[in-house]
Amino acid sequence: MKHLLKLMDLSEQEIIELLNLADQLKYERAHGIAHPHLAGKTLGMIFQKASTRTRVSFETGMVQLGGYPLFLSSHDLQIGRGEPVQDTARVLSRYLDGIMIRTFAQQEVEDLAKYGSIPVINGLTDFCHPCQVLADLMTIREYKGSFDGLKMCYIGDGNNMANSLIVGGLKVGMSVSVACPADYQPDASVLEFANATGKFSMTESPVLAAENADVIFTDVWASMGQEGEAEKRRIAFNGYQVNDEVLSAAHSECMVQHCLPAHRGEEITEKVFEAHANEIFDEAENRLHAQKAVMVKVMG
Ligand code: CP
Ligand code: NVA
Repeated sequence: MKHLLKLMDLSEQEIIELLNLADQLKYERAHGIAHPHLAGKTLGMIFQKASTRTRVSFETGMVQLGGYPLFLSSHDLQIGRGEPVQDTARVLSRYLDGIMIRTFAQQEVEDLAKYGSIPVINGLTDFCHPCQVLADLMTIREYKGSFDGLKMCYIGDGNNMANSLIVGGLKVGMSVSVACPADYQPDASVLEFANATGKFSMTESPVLAAENADVIFTDVWASMGQEGEAEKRRIAFNGYQVNDEVLSAAHSECMVQHCLPAHRGEEITEKVFEAHANEIFDEAENRLHAQKAVMVKVMG
């Protein structure tokens, strides 16, 4: 594994190996066992969008691995003034040992990997959020023991989270159901992959999608960069809320996950969020462990 650009690029075995390593790093961290796998290495972290979890978990994760994280806001980089990504990639490859990037276009991440000579990790694009979904899969396995026979459900916008959850969930063997409005479906390439597995279903009914689900995911209705559409989206997603009615269709032990930040009263009710807060904040914690595993795999 040279990069983490999107989950579609990974085999089931590569995903499971990452999750196993993440579990091990989490165990070591909890037991005070140092793991300086990246001593002397530097990770550049380019942010073209805001972040709490991704920034802090990558930054502290790199320190825990003995390396050095460099926060690079696009406001302060020449890339923000139009320096081509091909040049940025070749320059940063001369200084750094790896790059994490959060940006808009998936192509920019792919180009960084293509023109640079160091590992690139996708910290969210408009297309996908692979690091988040590795943490999500880690959390599901932690709570459920294995992925065997599990049904994952996603309700809401067919966005970056939906795209990665569908691919990740199906790759590890879960069945996946999605409920989203007709105008807000996941990416066509993701649907093509998903439909070929025979374990995927999509509907416009959240209750139908949630039937017998073992884990339900949702995400914001307006992602970063879509702030101007927030009002229109509030109308379009009316009814696509994870609430008691949706949960009553699911398995009685159903988990609820949210990548955060959450908008209570929109995609999830306050009551459901708080009832599942432990799972949701374990999910947030697992960003740290899952991303440390990714960094060790690609930069170690
Ligand atoms: N879930 C997630 O990626 O959070 P941040 O936007 O805070 O990084
Ligand atoms: N879909 C959200 C996820 C945030 C972690 C966004 O892109 O803003």
